[in-house]
Amino acid sequence: MFSLNMTKQTIKGIKAQIIHSLTDLYERQEAESIANRIIEDVLKTDSFGTTETTVIDADQKTLLEDYLYKLLNSEPVQYVTGYAYFRDLKLKVNPHVLIPRSETEFLVEEVLNHYKNSEDTLFGIDIGTGSGCIPISLETESNKMIMEAVDNSESAIKLARENTVLYKTKTKLLVDDVLNPDYTKYRIDKYDFMISNPPYVLESDKAQMHENVLNYEPSEALYVSDNHALLFYDAIVHFADKKLKNGGWLFLEIHESKGQELYQLLEKWNYEPIKIIRDLNNKDRFVKAMKK
Ligand SMILES: C[S@@+](CC[C@H](N)C(=O)[O-])C[C@H]1O[C@@H](n2cnc3c(N)ncnc32)[C@H](O)[C@@H]1O
Repeated sequence: MFSLNMTKQTIKGIKAQIIHSLTDLYERQEAESIANRIIEDVLKTDSFGTTETTVIDADQKTLLEDYLYKLLNSEPVQYVTGYAYFRDLKLKVNPHVLIPRSETEFLVEEVLNHYKNSEDTLFGIDIGTGSGCIPISLETESNKMIMEAVDNSESAIKLARENTVLYKTKTKLLVDDVLNPDYTKYRIDKYDFMISNPPYVLESDKAQMHENVLNYEPSEALYVSDNHALLFYDAIVHFADKKLKNGGWLFLEIHESKGQELYQLLEKWNYEPIKIIRDLNNKDRFVKAMKK
C-alpha cells in the first residue's frame, strides 16, 4: 500500500508526491493530469487554483492512497474514479465497458456535421455501444436524432442505461449479438444511419499495447483475430442490407491498416460514395459511405 507523507498534507504537497510516484509509469504531463483528476474527485471540486493550500483530512488521505495503489498497478484512472469524459459528457464507466476514446469523439463530430443542414428527424443506431457514449452525445447535441443502441454485453447495456438516465436521453438500448442478430428486437424498420466503433484491434497489435489496456479493458470490446479482421464490418454490412434505408449512411471507426479492404467491401455491397477519413495522426481511421 502506498503511503502519503502527511507532513505535506496540503493539496500542493500531496499533489507533488502523487506526481512523483506516477512518473515511473506515465509521462510527466499525464502524471500531472491524473493527479489533478484524483484530487478533484476526492475533494469533489473542479477549482484547483483555489484549493492548493487546502488541507486534506484522514478519510481523503485514505481514499487517495487507495486510488494511488490501483493506479500504480496500471489500472486506468477512469476505472479508478468510475467516470470518463467524452465530448461534453462525464460518463460512468466500469471494467465491463471500453473507456471512450478521443478518436470516437471525431466520429460523432462527423455525423453531426454530415446532418447539420438536415431538417428531418433522423433515426440512427449505434452498434456495440459500450458506455453509450455515441448515442448519448448525438442525442444531447442534436435534437433531431433519435437513437437506438445495441451491445451483446448485458453489463455494458446496464451501464449505458445508467448513463442515459444521467443525461435524460431517450436512447433505446438493447442486448443482441450483431454477429447473429435477432431483427425482431429492433424498433425501427429502416434506419437513416448506422454508426459503430466495433472491435477492430488485431491480436498482433497487443505486443505494442500498454499494460493498462491489456490487463483492464474488456478484451471482447477490443480485439479480433488477424485472420478475421473485418468480422464486425462484414456483420454490419449484412445488418445494413436489411435495416439501413437506401440513401442511408454508415459511419464507422476502423483500423488504420484496413481502409482499402473496407473500401473494397463497401464497393462490393454497392455503397457510393465511400470516403475514408484520416485522424489527427494522418492515419486512416473512419469510413463513411452511402447505401445506394
Ligand atoms: C470498441 S468497443 C466500443 C464501445 C463504445 N461504442 C465506444 O466507442 O467507446 C466495441 C463494443 O462492441 C461490443 N460487442 C462486441 N461483440 C459484439 C457482438 N457480437 N454484438 C454486439 N456488440 C458487440 C462490445 O461489448 C463493446 O462494447
